[in-house]
Amino acid sequence: MTHRKITIAIDGYSSCGKSTLARQLARHLGYRYIDSGAMYRAITLYFIRSGIDPQQPQQVQEALPQIHLSFALNEQSGDSEILLNDELVSHAIREMLVAEKVSEVAAIREVRHFAVAQQQAMGKGRGIVMDGRDIGTVVFPHAELKIFMNADPEIRVKRRFEELFPSNPALSIEEVRKNLELRDYIDTNRDESPLRKADDALILDNSSLTREEQLEKVLKWVAQAAS
Ligand code: CDP
Repeated sequence: MTHRKITIAIDGYSSCGKSTLARQLARHLGYRYIDSGAMYRAITLYFIRSGIDPQQPQQVQEALPQIHLSFALNEQSGDSEILLNDELVSHAIREMLVAEKVSEVAAIREVRHFAVAQQQAMGKGRGIVMDGRDIGTVVFPHAELKIFMNADPEIRVKRRFEELFPSNPALSIEEVRKNLELRDYIDTNRDESPLRKADDALILDNSSLTREEQLEKVLKWVAQAAS
C-alpha cells in the first residue's frame, strides 16, 4: 500500500540518537533528512571564525546576511552534508569548540528566525524528516508525526564519547558529560523556543533498543500517521 508523504519532526536532548533515527527513516522511506542542529553549528562556526561575539546584537545582525547554508547529498554515504558559504563543513562543525558555543548562539532570537525560516522553506514539499529541539513545537507544528526522544543520560554520554573519540583522542569523558549537561540546560531553559515535548508528540526512549528495534517501532507510527 502506498502512503502519502508526511512530515516527521524529531526532537529531544543532546546525543539521544535523533540523527541516527532520522537517517534510518529517510533511507527507508526515501525522504529527505535535514539536521537542523547542523545549521546552528555551522552558524556558530562562522561566528567563531569571524570573531563575532554572540552577545553583541549589532555584530550578530550584520553577520547573519553573510551566511549561506545549503545541503548536498553525499552519493557515497547517502547522507546530506552541510555547506557553509559553499564550503563542506560536516566535520568542522563537530569539533568541541563549536559544541561549547552552539547553545549560546542558538538561544539568540535573530539566529533562530534566520534558521527557522530556511527550515520551513525546506519542508514545503513534505517527505521530510527533520531533527532538532523545536521542530515539533515551532518549525513544523502541523507535522503528521512528532517524536520526542530520550535516553538514559549515561548512555548518551557514552555514545557521544565513542563517536568523537576516534578523531579526538585527547577528549575525556568528563568533557563530553559537561558539554551535554550544559547544552541540555541552556536548550531547555532559554526564552526563545526552548526544548520541550510537543503535546501531540510520541515519546521514544531508546536506552535499551537496538537500531533495528527502534526503526521497526517508528515505522509503525509512520504507517499510522500516513494512512
Ligand atoms: O547532535 P546533538 O544532539 O548533540 O546536537 P545538534 O542536534 O547537533 O544541535 C546542536 C545544538 O544546536 C543544540 O544543543 C541546540 O543548542 C541547538 N539546536 C537548536 O537550538 N534547535 C534546533 N532545532 C537544533 C539544534
